[in-house]
Amino acid sequence: MIRIPKSEYSRRRKALMAEMEPNSIAILPAAPMYIRNRDVEHIYRQDSDFQYLSGFPEPESVIALIPGREHGEYVLFCRERDPARELWDGLRAGQDGAISEYGADDAFPIGDIDDILPGLIEGRSRVYYAIGSNQEFDHRLMEWINTIRSKARQGAQPPNEFVALDHLLHDLRLYKSTNEVRVMRAAAEISARAHVRAMQASRPGLYEYHLEAELDYEFRKGGAKMPAYGSIVAAGKNACILHYRENDAVLKDGDLVLIDAGCEIDCYASDITRTFPVSGRFSAEQKAIYELVLAANEEAFKHIAPGKHWNEAHEATVQVITAGLVELGLLQGDVEELIAAEAYKPFYMHRAGHWLGMDVHDVGDYKVGGEWRVLEPGMAMTVEPGIYIAADNQDVAKKWRGIGVRIEDDVVVTRTGCDILTTGVPKTVAEIEALMATASEVA
Ligand code: GLY
Ligand code: MN
Ligand code: MN
Repeated sequence: MIRIPKSEYSRRRKALMAEMEPNSIAILPAAPMYIRNRDVEHIYRQDSDFQYLSGFPEPESVIALIPGREHGEYVLFCRERDPARELWDGLRAGQDGAISEYGADDAFPIGDIDDILPGLIEGRSRVYYAIGSNQEFDHRLMEWINTIRSKARQGAQPPNEFVALDHLLHDLRLYKSTNEVRVMRAAAEISARAHVRAMQASRPGLYEYHLEAELDYEFRKGGAKMPAYGSIVAAGKNACILHYRENDAVLKDGDLVLIDAGCEIDCYASDITRTFPVSGRFSAEQKAIYELVLAANEEAFKHIAPGKHWNEAHEATVQVITAGLVELGLLQGDVEELIAAEAYKPFYMHRAGHWLGMDVHDVGDYKVGGEWRVLEPGMAMTVEPGIYIAADNQDVAKKWRGIGVRIEDDVVVTRTGCDILTTGVPKTVAEIEALMATASEVA
């Protein structure tokens, strides 16, 4: 299975350390383990920042990066080998593995951190740390700092500055390398197959969770450990709930079903939405709304290229959708005035996309110095316009009510434009109807 190569983690640590001020230390804890109930834990997912810098998959670990440290710049605290625990819970890298497999210069048992880390912090004037994202760890860090302060009279030098690590690190994470794009493409391809499978399986009388099961099957078969977020399978008017999660309603003949689902590979997300008719044929109204959303989706790609700013794609979708809603009689008035008054918002209330990467709603600033960020090669994002006509919207003719359509693709900015990672799943009315017609013949 495609993964981020080990060498890339080392390159990332160097890139971060090159940005840090002299005489500083960066500290990052692994994600905590969360208890589901009693002795059962939730499936473990490493913290994205921690994973980005280490590829180290274990909980109860702490990274310390200390540029210029003579005995090694990359120190990893992790669990010790323990045959009895490993028999129950799985293998651990231990300190030797942290060094030989994960490239740490130095590794210590996590149980020794209180004795060792204050000594590594002492004498550094700056600590890079994401304050506020892990309360328990914030508290422990303050205790280590206080340990150093308590020894000030013996000459110990506590740090005098805390710097937000997130800012530096998240800017690095925003630019995807060739290896990252390769992994994201693999995730997108598996997710595309999952959407195709769900379309082929759709029948009136099945339940939304039947289609979710088809998605999960393809995700796991492709090697994904888990979805990148809770899959949305929303039939009929459920599609008008943007983050619908119940997935337990029946699929009815004549309704559309909106599926927003993507898997995660090596901690990289994909995020795809397709909307299709339960029985394989769009009604006239469904088709009209669908083609309008598709036109907005396709227009957006033309506005994603180096030199264009983040919001241009969104503005393009607003333009297409507002003009289209006027044409269909769902809005009345002058298109530019309607846009200025945000008259489209009852139908299109979210933005056209978000950064995509290790987190589905990935890190990175959308504005720099108060201005929309200018796109550069390697930035990855979604394009996901939608139109949702509430079932109780009394301002529109009855035939439109309860229709919800979103079409979402994943793209990476290239040197000349953008590369769409999610072309593996049909998108036009003709393609979807053709795919679903062959599926029902087979069945
Ligand atoms: N699945 C969440 C989103 O599309 O942003
Ligand atoms: Mn989505
Ligand atoms: Mn999305």
